[in-house]
Order: sequence, then C-alpha cells, then structure tokens
Amino acid sequence: MNIPFEMQDAIEKLLEERSISKIRDCVSSVCERYNNDSGRGKVLVKNEEEAVSYAISRMPGTFGAVKTAVRAFKEETEEALEDGSLEIKSLADIGAGTGAAVWAAASEFDFDRITCFERESSMIATGKHMLAFGEDVMKNAAWIQGDAVKGKDGGSKADLVTASYIMNELRPEDREGFLKMLWETADKAVILLEHGTKVGFQNVLYARDFFTKNGASVVAPCTFSDGCPLPADDWCHFTCRMQRSKVQKFVKGGDAPYEDEKFSYIAVLKTPLGEGRNESDRKARIIRHPITNKGCVEFKLCSKRGIENAKVTSRDKEQFKAARKAEWGDKW
Ligand SMILES: C[S@@+](CC[C@H](N)C(=O)[O-])C[C@H]1O[C@@H](n2cnc3c(N)ncnc32)[C@H](O)[C@@H]1O
Repeated sequence: MNIPFEMQDAIEKLLEERSISKIRDCVSSVCERYNNDSGRGKVLVKNEEEAVSYAISRMPGTFGAVKTAVRAFKEETEEALEDGSLEIKSLADIGAGTGAAVWAAASEFDFDRITCFERESSMIATGKHMLAFGEDVMKNAAWIQGDAVKGKDGGSKADLVTASYIMNELRPEDREGFLKMLWETADKAVILLEHGTKVGFQNVLYARDFFTKNGASVVAPCTFSDGCPLPADDWCHFTCRMQRSKVQKFVKGGDAPYEDEKFSYIAVLKTPLGEGRNESDRKARIIRHPITNKGCVEFKLCSKRGIENAKVTSRDKEQFKAARKAEWGDKW
C-alpha cells in the first residue's frame, strides 16, 4: 500500500530547512524512549524536531494499519451504511499525534467534521502542518489540546472515535478512564489500534472487555462479541505492507523498499450490528498467513465457534480458487 500523494508531499515539506541527518538521529532517540518508557504516562516526543521525526518515520505504517482496520469496519457494516441506518459523518481522533489516523479514516469515509485531541504542542503543530495538505475537512479540523486520562470527553462528540498507538503509553491505572473517555466521545463507533505485539494485544483485549461490558457489539476483527478464544500466550495481530520512500529508507536505515506494519485492533459499535442478525451466521477471520501447498490451502480461523484450522483442497474448484486469493485478515 502507498500513502496518499498529498501526505507524502506534506512529509517531504517537513524536511525543507531541516537537516535530514539530525532527523535520523531524532528517530533513533525517540525509538529508544518508546522502547524504555512506554506504559508510564511519560511525554515521549519532547520537541518539534522529534515530532517531525515521528511523522516521517511512523506516519506511513500507521496510515496503512488504521486504513486496514477502518476498511474492515466498513466492510462489516456495509449493509447498514448502504441503507442509511448507520451514518459516519464525524470523526474524533484521540491522541491524534501528527494525524496519521485522520488521513487513514478520511480515505475511507466522507466526514463533514473532524476533531483531533492531543496533549503535546509539538505533535499538534506538526499534525496541523500535515492536515493542511489534505481535503478541506482535514484542513479545517479542530485541534483540542488536553489530557485524555483527565478530560471528560474528547472535546466534541463524533460518530466515529479512533485512537491509535496511544494506549501503550498510558499507565495501567489510567487505561479505564481513557477508555471511558473514548466511549463517551463516540456517538456510534470506536476503532482502537495498538502494536501487533503481545503487550499491544493485551491492551486491545482490555479495551474489548471494557467496550463489550458497556454493551458494544464487536465489528472487527472478531466476528462475534463473546470472549476471545485465543490461548493466553498467543496474540491476535495483522500486518500491512507499506512502500518506503527514499526519505523513509534513510531515516529508518536499510534499503528494503517496503516495511511490514504489525498491528492489533478492535472496532466496535455502540448498537447491535444489524437488526436481528445472528452472530453465528458471521464468517470467520483468517488470523495467520494462509499456507499454500500444491493442491491445498490451510487457514487458521477465528469465529464464534473458536479457533479452527481449515483445509481447502483443489477437489473443490470454486472454493480452492477463492482460497488461493484469500489473505491474512480476510474473512472466510
Ligand atoms: C505514539 S503516538 C500516536 C499518534 C497517532 N495516534 C498515530 O497513531 O500516529 C501517541 C500520541 O498520544 C499522545 N498522548 C499520550 N498520552 C496522552 C494523553 N494522556 N492525552 C492526550 N494525548 C496523549 C502523545 O502525545 C502522542 O502524540
């Protein structure tokens, strides 16, 4: 996947009048701080140069991950969106940082109002620069500076609330207040993403429990709202391959033309998903890369029935053709 052309343009403009080598040094110091100080409620990006380095190094991967999650949400709620029983016209992005999730959500939905809620002035300044390259609704986004674990709501309510890669920064004792804030800010839906690691998934699982206890129906990636069937030592995550620009290769080091962003997520609706729709009728989600051998494709699937391994052989021509095209993260 590629980031939008305008977003790449905005990233490149960030580098004008800045030393790219200095930005590269900032990327490694910010990375180190993230590795050592996440989960303690600390400020991890400390000035505008670091915010710029964050934008250059992290925004493409985040864009891809959030877009993938928003697409899965959209695909699952398509019927309701088509018949007008679900309208997604406004967005609040909490812990918006430099605005990557806004770019991603706005590439899937036509919003008429966007709010970005963020604590750090340096992230807000860089985020405003980035969104100035987007559609009018992005240019006109309202930026609210505040603390998501202290605020009552995200400034103004919105149909959809997104929160990407913020929960891992919070102290464990602040997580519930933060989720309450997301829930109260959302009129209709919440999509939350974390890193595709064991720790990231534990945060997603915690959020899933919080939302379902409050009456949410899970839209994606789970196709059911009962408890998660994965064993305790496993974690549900997905991956998204992003093309790397010359600049990204330089600041992150290495020549690989792409990077794989691994993420865990949960998308929920505050209301049931489709009147009278039975969760048992929903398809399963493919939760690992399918294994393709001659004449056979094997899937690891998750559904209301639990975790299952499935095999599709070339004896079933139609199914086999579809199975060969199916990817990790698709439904089956
Ligand atoms: C890792 S960045 C992610 C930014 C953006 N959501 C993205 O995915 O690119 C986390 C952001 O959350 C913000 N943040 C952390 N704790 C916060 C809090 N308590 N209230 C508001 N923002 C917070 C940080 O300042 C930072 O911009």
